[in-house]
Amino acid sequence: MSSKRALVTGGAGFLGSHLCDGLLGEGYSVVVVDSLLTGRHANLEHLRNEAAFEFIEKDICEPFDVGKVDYVFHFASPASPVDYTVHGIPTLRVGSLGTFNALEVALKYNSKYLVSSTSECYGDPLEHPQKETYWGNVNSIGPRSVYDEAKRFTESVTMAYHRYRKVDTRIVRIFNTYGPRMQLNDGRVVPNFMKQALRGEPLTVYGTGSQTRSFCYVSDEVDGFIRLAKSDEHLPVNIGNPNEFTILECARHVINVTGSKSRITYEPLPQDDPKQRCPDITKARQLLGWEPKINLETGLRMSLDYFRKTVAEESAKK
Ligand SMILES: NC(=O)c1ccc[n+]([C@@H]2O[C@H](COP(=O)([O-])OP(=O)(O)OC[C@H]3O[C@@H](n4cnc5c(N)ncnc54)[C@H](O)[C@@H]3O)[C@@H](O)[C@H]2O)c1
Repeated sequence: MSSKRALVTGGAGFLGSHLCDGLLGEGYSVVVVDSLLTGRHANLEHLRNEAAFEFIEKDICEPFDVGKVDYVFHFASPASPVDYTVHGIPTLRVGSLGTFNALEVALKYNSKYLVSSTSECYGDPLEHPQKETYWGNVNSIGPRSVYDEAKRFTESVTMAYHRYRKVDTRIVRIFNTYGPRMQLNDGRVVPNFMKQALRGEPLTVYGTGSQTRSFCYVSDEVDGFIRLAKSDEHLPVNIGNPNEFTILECARHVINVTGSKSRITYEPLPQDDPKQRCPDITKARQLLGWEPKINLETGLRMSLDYFRKTVAEESAKK
């Protein structure tokens, strides 16, 4: 794959920027197209003088052309509950129009294409753990539907371009991922707990805290994306960490890793909050030889410096 050119839509975001690092590390040249709706220049600052790297600020809901690329990695979309709640309509637009436009680039240049889908396609699952063959339990009109249904539509358009236009597509269903460059205030569990613990504030647990999540460290996740991109699998593949933790256990890990004196407080569960979410990664293991290597405690320790610095910067602004 070396000396090939890859497009990363949404490359200024959390996952996209780590993917850029991974691709550059494998010898690709990389062009990012990002509107900076939820992404940040700071996530790509370290690549500023990298000759093999290029950044284009653009909304991919409008047709775009970056010249010939061998790979299209379509990662543009608000992803955190806070972001897709604020940007409900842009989330639906980028999942639909943006996906058409990214697929048109792949069609034009005969590029391999990989799109970031999500475990949210399974909704509040009635099957546990979730295999790729499970069709999901999604509320199409609830507050989360702007994201869940956008992503289900993204998958549908992707399969249509594969079936009708013969585009060489791949779909990754990403489960909760964490690590450096996450936004501090994005409402997701790890940054929330890290921020509260580092400030010595109580950690907020919604419901009883018995709902479970699985947390994948970002470098494991990127390894999965690149392996899938090199494969010939067109149907969705789960990439996530199958080790399940209750939210309460996660809170205790964060308190332990940060050495915080924070206590835990409880608030009511938000609407449609899934009770359980855990990937079955048998397919990724068999097909890609992939499985996560970094456990939650290690990943939290590896993220600690970033969160410490970001919390300090935020308090300095106040
Ligand atoms: N982080 C996770 O745990 C997770 C889980 C499941 C799926 N995903 C998927 O992975 C992808 C990246 O997520 P993330 O966590 O890095 O989110 P993020 O918000 O950090 O990054 C998304 C990027 O897309 C850009 N973007 C949004 N709309 C755009 C548009 N119209 N045109 C151009 N750029 C646009 C944003 O500016 C941002 O840089 C998303 O598609 C998301 O649905 C992420």
